[in-house]
Amino acid sequence: MKKVGIIGAGKIGGSLLLRLAESGGFDLGVSDIHPEQLRPYKQAGVRTTSSNQELAETSDLIIAAVKPWDVPGVMEEISPSFRDDNKAVTSVAAGVSIARISESLPQGTAILRVMPNVCASVGLGSAVVTSNEAGRAALPTVMDIFRHVGEVLELPERLFDAATALHGSGPAYVALFADALIQAGVREGIPRDVARRLVVGTIGGTAVLLKERSAHQVRDEVMTPGGTTAAAFVAMEKAGFVAAVYDGVEAATEQARGLGG
Ligand SMILES: NC(=O)c1ccc[n+]([C@@H]2O[C@H](COP(=O)([O-])OP(=O)(O)OC[C@H]3O[C@@H](n4cnc5c(N)ncnc54)[C@H](OP(=O)(O)O)[C@@H]3O)[C@@H](O)[C@H]2O)c1
Repeated sequence: MKKVGIIGAGKIGGSLLLRLAESGGFDLGVSDIHPEQLRPYKQAGVRTTSSNQELAETSDLIIAAVKPWDVPGVMEEISPSFRDDNKAVTSVAAGVSIARISESLPQGTAILRVMPNVCASVGLGSAVVTSNEAGRAALPTVMDIFRHVGEVLELPERLFDAATALHGSGPAYVALFADALIQAGVREGIPRDVARRLVVGTIGGTAVLLKERSAHQVRDEVMTPGGTTAAAFVAMEKAGFVAAVYDGVEAATEQARGLGG
């Protein structure tokens, strides 16, 4: 059984741990600088430690799920464990390149990057994965791990900052849109709890439709010529809705590029 160690029991690391523990297919360990963060995972049968180095020594695959600025320090800490050729390390951090990670690890270390999103916490995540040459052998294992929390695709590393902006931050954009839509319903007089249920149902249902057909098809099915949806589209486009989405994703991509240091 693969020994998987996750550094950082936060939103991403924690979601992954709980799903992997449920599957029963992995020997799991976790470390975090906050011992209280580790308690729920210990109860789920996961090995816990406050030492990243100890976790790395006892794992075949390390997944670093700490904030981007904490990645170099964590890599320095676990570097001595990578004397063993069979170990691999995966980072889920935004903006920290494989080249930057490799500066802190012995030459030839298998390094992978994954960009997940927070939908992993409900098993409906989207993730992209890439690796250096030495990490290619570990790709199937890492893809299998992230398939436990959603869909996984391979993507060249040069597109990782854009993917971070698109689907890594994506749930927050959808939540922003949902909030605006709920507020708009309330403004028109719909009770807040009813507006919320209608909007959440609409977003969930549309997500299913979009798996079956293109966004344009869904739009055309709803939009009667001269009807209500057409009127809304004209108003939203005039207010710069589409341009705001382009600008937001561009700003997030630029921000991701700056995180690597
Ligand atoms: N959240 C998202 O939606 C999302 C989406 C895609 C990718 N990511 C990436 O995933 C990574 C983790 O994000 P997150 O939102 O899961 O972060 P998080 O919730 O803050 O979890 C990170 C955990 O690691 C702990 N930690 C910090 N330094 C550590 C160290 N040296 N050793 C062990 N544990 C340490 C943190 O403690 P402190 O709180 O004290 O720092 C925290 O408990 C980030 O790099 C982010 O770019 C996140």
